[in-house]
Amino acid sequence: MIDLDANATTPLLPEVLEAMLPWLRGGHANPSGSYAAAKLARRAIDEARGQVAELIGAQPEEIVFTGGGTESVNTALFSLDRLAGQGRAVVSAIEHSAVLRHVEKQPRGCRLVAVDAGGRLDSSDLEAAMADAAYVSVMMANNETGIIQPIEEVMEIARRHRLPVHTDAIQATGKMPIDVRALGVDLLSLSAHKFHGPKGVGALYVKSGLRFEPMLSGGGQEAGRRSGTENTAGIVGMGVAAAMAKSYLTDSNLAALRDAFESRVVAGIEGVIRNGDPSFRLPNTSHLSFDQCDASGLLILLDEAGIACSAGSACMTGKQKPSHVQLAMGIPEIQAKSSLRFSFSRLNTLEEAMAAADAVIKAVGKLRRVQGSGVGPVVVYSP
Ligand SMILES: Cc1ncc(COP(=O)(O)O)c(C=O)c1O
Repeated sequence: MIDLDANATTPLLPEVLEAMLPWLRGGHANPSGSYAAAKLARRAIDEARGQVAELIGAQPEEIVFTGGGTESVNTALFSLDRLAGQGRAVVSAIEHSAVLRHVEKQPRGCRLVAVDAGGRLDSSDLEAAMADAAYVSVMMANNETGIIQPIEEVMEIARRHRLPVHTDAIQATGKMPIDVRALGVDLLSLSAHKFHGPKGVGALYVKSGLRFEPMLSGGGQEAGRRSGTENTAGIVGMGVAAAMAKSYLTDSNLAALRDAFESRVVAGIEGVIRNGDPSFRLPNTSHLSFDQCDASGLLILLDEAGIACSAGSACMTGKQKPSHVQLAMGIPEIQAKSSLRFSFSRLNTLEEAMAAADAVIKAVGKLRRVQGSGVGPVVVYSP
């Protein structure tokens, strides 16, 4: 399989697995215990805390380990719901469902901020939403298009209105530098499996001094901010993945792979549209629409050819609705339903990128032939 679905998840790096294994084999001691084995586990967790903090320019005590990205996001928003002032949650229209499903349940409601045709937040609409805002949550980079959001502008507007800000940095981590001090955000969510760490482990950055209300009550772990016995192996894995991500951040290979893939696809077939403003993209993500092709048909053909990628975002795959992200960008429904996301990881090779491009060219050609000739509506392929 050629795995071009890194925005859905990434494989564990061998170094991450090696670091986790001792904690899965014998290191079962509860890190809250007072005996030697427990203290070792506690030390390993604290080392990982330092590694994650270093990746985003935080202090170790500002890092709270969680049970994954969705939990980090919900924990951040839960606290903001409780402690931010009266008013509505203000979030971008292209947030992940972890944010959207949370804020739409709020009794005070939420305000969705528009994005432009390139997939970037519309700052003037954010400004307009400030009148009755309680807090702001805008993702650092979109999971579907890879478009990087203007968090500096978000911070400037929110600060003027004295509002706390959360950013979902789950897709940005390991793909672009993150510095919480320079940004000034109050809360930031991370998920280990998006940067070659294990699944089911995440972290929440909570700015020092920020008032915070925990979502999970219980034994008071993580300095009372996230109760529940820590997942030592997972946390250790996240720490090593974070340390490795920091060292390969400056590696420009990802963009080169993505660009080589895109160039070959665009040169090989007509009617390919690149979605999103290319000057603000994560280096690993390619979001393409294919004229006269239904994404679900393309996915079947590409799967047969051994290529893993996604239609829209992974969470939307299998559902008939076009993605909310593309609709928010004003992409016509027919184009939205003909789009695929290819997302590279540092484990992909140039040979894979080229082979995948050839497979895409072949699949699009086949799907268009099924329809006959000429221009026409999207084709639904059934094998
Ligand atoms: C932007 C974004 N936020 C949140 C999540 C949820 O993270 P997790 O899968 O770790 O719960 C994802 C995962 O797809 C994501 O891409």
